Amino acid sequence: MTSSPHPRAAIILAAGQGTRMKSPLPKVLHPVGGRAMLDHAIDAAEALGCERIVVVVGAHSPEVRAHVEKRLGEDAIAVQDPPLGTGHAVRAAEAVLGDFVGQVVITYGDVPLLTAADIEPVFAAHDGVTVIGFEARDPAAYGRLVMDGDQLAAITEAKEASPEVLALTACNSGVMAAPVGLLFDLLREVRNDNAKGEYYLTDVVELARRRGAPTRAVFAAEDAVMGVNAQAELAQAEALFQKVQRETFLAAGVTMPAPETVHFSYDTEVGGGTTIEPYVVFGPGAKIAAGARIRAFSHVEGATVAAGAEVGPYARLRPGADLGEGAKVGNFVEVKNVRMGKGAKANHLAYLGDGEVGARANIGAGVIFCNYDGFFKHHTTVGEAAFVGSNSSLVAPVAIGAGAMVGSGSVITRDVEPGDLALGRGQQTAKTGWAARFMETMRAKKAGRS
Ligand code: UD1
Ligand code: MG
Repeated sequence: MTSSPHPRAAIILAAGQGTRMKSPLPKVLHPVGGRAMLDHAIDAAEALGCERIVVVVGAHSPEVRAHVEKRLGEDAIAVQDPPLGTGHAVRAAEAVLGDFVGQVVITYGDVPLLTAADIEPVFAAHDGVTVIGFEARDPAAYGRLVMDGDQLAAITEAKEASPEVLALTACNSGVMAAPVGLLFDLLREVRNDNAKGEYYLTDVVELARRRGAPTRAVFAAEDAVMGVNAQAELAQAEALFQKVQRETFLAAGVTMPAPETVHFSYDTEVGGGTTIEPYVVFGPGAKIAAGARIRAFSHVEGATVAAGAEVGPYARLRPGADLGEGAKVGNFVEVKNVRMGKGAKANHLAYLGDGEVGARANIGAGVIFCNYDGFFKHHTTVGEAAFVGSNSSLVAPVAIGAGAMVGSGSVITRDVEPGDLALGRGQQTAKTGWAARFMETMRAKKAGRS
């Protein structure tokens, strides 16, 4: 990262217990748009150019710690134990930030919709304390922003507020930025003689004013700063996230007759001119080129779909599915870790796992790539323009040569040479007139009984 004249660091608070989620999964690891809320917060900090990111975790959640360690390394972790308030949480990061000099922004692991663009204005000034406020529809328990002209006089927590202050609708999002030295100097002065007996981060505003340091508020949309405390709020955050994704894709030229039924992930890519039919779900890692068609009720995750390809209805593309131009994957077909060449087709009821299907090859209904022997996964290769008859099992590792054919109902355990026909099934025999004689006898038996 290039060194900027005003280096930035982020402290992400994630030490809360999240008990109201009533879930064994730590709150900040719950996903929005297929990505852990904490990762959304880290993404925003990275996009802001923060050269140091510290996540404050509680001693009660080793999973959060492990998650941060995996993504950012051990140097990004500060432990707050026990949690004694937001001011106390920020202080826990001081030692970890070490000799960092620059602006520090404080954000939250449970505020998943807040983007770098929403946070950016908090860095407009490089002196004093700046907070991100919002106009609350229902200010309820939020801290109120008490203004003095264009300066922020104080943030008053709802529990400490007079009726006049409670009537204010400008509220504190919790996001705050300040020069690192000033921030920690002020935090050392914060006391916990308040209604909750906690060290409030918000107290630094008044303390800064007392020193004559500027204190400002910038504003963001209420939806952007929403925090998640319970499952209903997680669902609400997801709904807001999906709404933005749908609007973005519609604006980019994606055709969606029922956008409200389509679910995207944080990283879904869809080119303009692609049609997404109703009730399609995109898990993480889906890349759909311009001019593809994803038909109704399909589930697509970790898959790449080229122009002119068609998926579904009722198809499942799993990680590593890679559909070439004009390829077709039809109803009740599951594709995992298989590259399908140009114009290759698997139109009905098949499982294609771990392999390759050449251009223009045709995979019949009910074909299974038997990729797993109970211990290891193996590859299946189907050559260009090969034809695999319905209800065949290709027992991997196995290769079907280009232009070869496999007769319906075959179990293929050995490679098939290009241009050959392979048959791996019981041979058909015929007993002349047997069925007619059998039915006659049985009909007579039944008539005798009635
Ligand atoms: C805080 C703000 C309030 C603001 C509101 C926005 C303070 C004192 N108040 O209130 O002005 O309107 O957020 O939602 O800052 N956390 C820790 N360690 C702690 C305490 C909290 O990591 O010891 C984390 C929590 O996990 C949570 C966040 O900080 O993500 C906010 O804490 P919370 O206790 O919910 O603060 P509020 O009372 O909601
Ligand atoms: Mg809260």
